[in-house]
This record gives sequence, structure tokens and C-alpha cells, in this order.
Amino acid sequence: MANLLLSLFSALLLTATITKSEAYSQTMEAPYPGDKLEKLTHLHFYFHDIVSGNKPTSVPVARGPNTNTSATSFGLVAVIDDKLTVGPEITSEEVGRVQGIFASADQNNFGLLMVLNFVFTKGEFAGSTASLYGRNPILAKLREMPIIGGTGAFRFGKGYAQAKTFTFNTTSGDAVIEYNVYIWH
Ligand SMILES: *[C@@H]1O[C@H](CO)[C@@H](O)[C@H](O)[C@H]1NC(C)=O
Ligand SMILES: *[C@@H]1O[C@H](CO)[C@@H](O)[C@H](O)[C@H]1NC(C)=O
Repeated sequence: MANLLLSLFSALLLTATITKSEAYSQTMEAPYPGDKLEKLTHLHFYFHDIVSGNKPTSVPVARGPNTNTSATSFGLVAVIDDKLTVGPEITSEEVGRVQGIFASADQNNFGLLMVLNFVFTKGEFAGSTASLYGRNPILAKLREMPIIGGTGAFRFGKGYAQAKTFTFNTTSGDAVIEYNVYIWH
């Protein structure tokens, strides 16, 4: 009996301690003193979506039952590991890769669901990533998509990306897309 009371008492004590020390939310100091926590970075690069040839970097992985007859290829899912370069030529300096998935998710207008990670490999952002998640109405001249986070230099990142088709080869299906990305981090 005494033991039971004792354990009940210590359980209560433990609960009380936890309740007292844990707040639902708190404002924190910047994790790295000296770092400017919020700065805006503008990135500009070209995204090479290669679907043709024997080494495509953009490959369809799934189709729905009516994807082939759909005007918008509804249900098509593709995985990409596309090169990012400083200039529009494929031979221009590579600054990283864009890796992820896109899916045709609009039955009436071209609209892709984009789930992408920009993986930077050059300069001050080498080793950092930024994540894009949004809708890409590919026929629009300028498409805006959210940047929802990042790692490394882009921790706490948020922002947006603007994409413009630079060239699209109607024979091969290969495309070069110009990206302007703005990230608060
Ligand atoms: C749709 O097209 C792809 C690529 O041309 C082909 O591999 C696939 O068999 C087709 N699917 C249907 C259901 O016709
Ligand atoms: C478009 O693709 C075709 C087929 O791969 C190729 O022969 C042609 O040179 C390309 N055009 C341009 C402008 O790159």
C-alpha cells in the first residue's frame, strides 16, 4: 500500500514537472549567433529537361488508363534528375541538379504538380538544397511556384521560383527552362 502510494505520488510529481517545463511554443534565439537569420538570395539558372536519346534525365514512370488519349496527359508521372547550369547551353557550367517528381494533375489545362529538390553543388551553396512544391501551368509564359524549405544555407527557407521556357524542341521533346528563385533563409 505504501509502495503504491509512493509510486502514485512520484507519477504525479513527474507529470507536474513535465507540465511545468514544457511550453507550447517559444521564441528562440537565432541558432547561429553572428549569422544574419533572414536574408534574401536570388538564384538564376537554367534547367535542362532531357527526355530524348539513350541517357534521358527525365523519365516517365507511370501512366493512368487514359493518359495516352488525354489532351493534358492526365495521370502521367515522371522522375527527373536534370542538370542546372549558369547559362542556357547544356555545356555551360553545372551548378547543381534538380531531382524529383512531376505529375500531370489537371484534366482540362496543362498543369503539373511539381515536387522537386534543387541540389546545389557549386559555390557558396554547394551541399545545400531547396525544396519546391507547387503547380506548374507549363503553357503559361511565366510560372510561379513556392519554395517551401531547404537545408544547409537554406535552412528555414521560404520563397518562390519563377520559371520560363527558354527553348522547347518539338521534335525531341527536350526543354531548357530558365529559373529565377528567391529564398528568404
Ligand atoms: C501509352 O503510351 C506509352 C508510350 O508510348 C506506351 O508504352 C503504353 O503502352 C501506352 N499505354 C496504353 C494504355 O495505351
Ligand atoms: C531538336 O531535336 C532534334 C532531334 O533530336 C535534333 O535533330 C535537332 O537538332 C534539335 N533542334 C535544336 C534546335 O536543337
